Amino acid sequence: TSQVSCRRLLQTSTGGDWQLQTAVAFDIDGVLVKGKQALDAGRRALSILSGNNAHGKRIPFVLLTNGGGVSEAAKAQDISQRLGTPISASQIVLAHSPMQSLARQYGSQHVLVVGGIKNRCAEIARTYGFTNVSTPNDLVAWRPSMWPFMRPPPLDHLSQAPGRDFSEHPFAAVMVFHDSFDFGRDLQVVTDVLRSENATVGRPFVGRQTAPLFMSNEDLVFSNEYPRPRFGQGAYHVCLRAMWQALNAGTGMPELEYSLFGKPHAVQYRYAEGLLDQIAANVGGPAVDVAEMRRGRRIYAIGDNPAADIKGANAAGWTSVLVRTGVFNGPPGSNDASNPAAVVVDHVEDAVNWIVDTEA
Ligand code: G3P
Ligand code: MG
Repeated sequence: TSQVSCRRLLQTSTGGDWQLQTAVAFDIDGVLVKGKQALDAGRRALSILSGNNAHGKRIPFVLLTNGGGVSEAAKAQDISQRLGTPISASQIVLAHSPMQSLARQYGSQHVLVVGGIKNRCAEIARTYGFTNVSTPNDLVAWRPSMWPFMRPPPLDHLSQAPGRDFSEHPFAAVMVFHDSFDFGRDLQVVTDVLRSENATVGRPFVGRQTAPLFMSNEDLVFSNEYPRPRFGQGAYHVCLRAMWQALNAGTGMPELEYSLFGKPHAVQYRYAEGLLDQIAANVGGPAVDVAEMRRGRRIYAIGDNPAADIKGANAAGWTSVLVRTGVFNGPPGSNDASNPAAVVVDHVEDAVNWIVDTEA
């Protein structure tokens, strides 16, 4: 049986031979890039998976990042250009990509989308199928006294034409898509919505949470070109929980409730596996039995953050590879104690070479 499935899984397409029983998910920050700086090891790693290896086989891959605040297409274009390997939007899983599924429930309802610059996350939410989106900037533009410590936002930072009376528009949900670029404002605005009667700003604060909260990335820190890890979206979650507790101290109000997307949560891994299935079906053609290929496929995750990348990959039944170029900074030869990876290597090129050799 294994010979049959191997024959089926080694497909030839116009782009060369594909090794479909193997797949790789790359983390981006701290693995392929450090902030604005693309890593040479990252360039070589993507080239190796594109067939420049001793076996001449292409290996399907996706980029599985807790980053976001841009569209999947924009991220694909940015990484393609910086790392020199063509990557399509259908290879990208951003922290907020699986939040598309929430549009089934909230697509026509009024939602507050938080995070990122200008109105970009609102635009992304609209492409996901949310048709009635507002942002903290829209609220502050409506009532500057709501957050008096900033200049009223310019028109091109708003997600809609000014003029909506938000005291007449309850929110059905709050969705944090990306890092807050203004923690203070977003702590104020989000707690306002979540504890106002009928989740309507300006109404009395009531002793319960009045709308559901969804957040996309609980990374406390991430790695960029600064020598020490930087606060991620998870740092905002910590502040939000603390403010919620402080604001409601002594009232008997329960802790803030919220649902999480992003690594290490299973929803991200299932979404990535779906993209890998599509890639296999596209390059392999009708001869590929996707269900059978799935059963025999080994997926490797290469990441720098044990609490996100390694924890999530281990739980998903993937093989985890930890690199030493980002958040993890244990001494050489060590592994993470809480979330040990299957293997620890210096950088992503070593990771890919280890995978290609293991799978040869
Ligand atoms: O803000 C991005 C960060 O939290 C993680 O990105 O690519 O390391 O998952 P990445
Ligand atoms: Mg990372």
